[in-house]
Amino acid sequence: MKIGILTAGGDCPGLNAAIRGVAKTALLEHRMQVLGISSGFLGLIENEYFEIQEKHLSGILTMGGTILGTSREKPFRKSTNYMMEIDKPEIIRRNYKKLGLDCLVCIGGNGTMKTAYRLSELGMNIIGLPKTIDNDVWGTEYTFGFDSAVTIATEAIDRLHSTANSHKRIMVIEVMGHHAGWIALYSGVAAGGDIILIPEIKYDGEIVAAYLKQRAKAKKEYSIVVVAEGIVNGSKKGAGTKVANKISKLAGLETRETVLGYVQRGGSPSPMDRILATRYGAHATELIAGERYGNMVAMQNSEIIAVSLNKVSDKVRTVPVKHPLILQARNMGTCFGDQLCSRMN
Ligand code: F6P
Repeated sequence: MKIGILTAGGDCPGLNAAIRGVAKTALLEHRMQVLGISSGFLGLIENEYFEIQEKHLSGILTMGGTILGTSREKPFRKSTNYMMEIDKPEIIRRNYKKLGLDCLVCIGGNGTMKTAYRLSELGMNIIGLPKTIDNDVWGTEYTFGFDSAVTIATEAIDRLHSTANSHKRIMVIEVMGHHAGWIALYSGVAAGGDIILIPEIKYDGEIVAAYLKQRAKAKKEYSIVVVAEGIVNGSKKGAGTKVANKISKLAGLETRETVLGYVQRGGSPSPMDRILATRYGAHATELIAGERYGNMVAMQNSEIIAVSLNKVSDKVRTVPVKHPLILQARNMGTCFGDQLCSRMN
């Protein structure tokens, strides 16, 4: 068999571990030929690829980024320039045939799974692998990249505690997550954030300010506010800036903000992400060997399984407002900026 692998969308730690998982299992266990497609779907449009051999896989397990490169190319998106109107899905279908591929492994997030499904509808054999720091792919409990991002964000928040304490300030930290609050929730709980604001729970600036003033009055002289970037849908101002300004204005407390940004996506994957990406990668190859195409590899109830791309496509997995971690944090006094924020921690 001959298979292709591509990584698409924003990068995250663990991509190389996943490529290695797919390719090593394919080369060693199943004697398949493996092509690495460059820069996501762009590589299939421009026919940019190389044959992956074992030597390309040495030393990449711990490496951040992706040896294949990535892009945000969305072949099904209509071009706004009619002069540029070309049928990208058809070019991809033709190149897939020309390369003699038996299957294409698409490693990516929500957008990639949608594209993967639409390509499978065009008759290509596709397997999806869910990656993203945001952990928002429907059908799986975890995407690889998430654990590394939470680890990085947690360490950053830990460091903000000491400087916040020295200056008796409010520290607002904005973390990524797109439209979901997974990174903010997990890192916020892990690092003992006093307030955690996520897109899934509508916050009220007055409640946040009252909570912080109450803490200050009780001689809790500094506070940590963890904010998911997605709470400001459509706003020009970033989430961290918006919340920090509100706190200064409404609570009159000295406030500083930190936007963590792309460090959350960079560097070596955590051990858990290396393992998850390796398992996902190896399982993808097993699905191909069994000709179980049109599926995304996923984790459900701690087991690695296959979920139909048809079910995953066009969905986002946000944080349930009654997620056990939210309920537990609330019971311990953590404020989520809503009416239920009554008890001070
Ligand atoms: O999906 C991963 C992510 O890092 C989001 O958390 C963030 O909103 C977005 O990508 C940033 O995307 P870009 O790489 O296009 O700047």
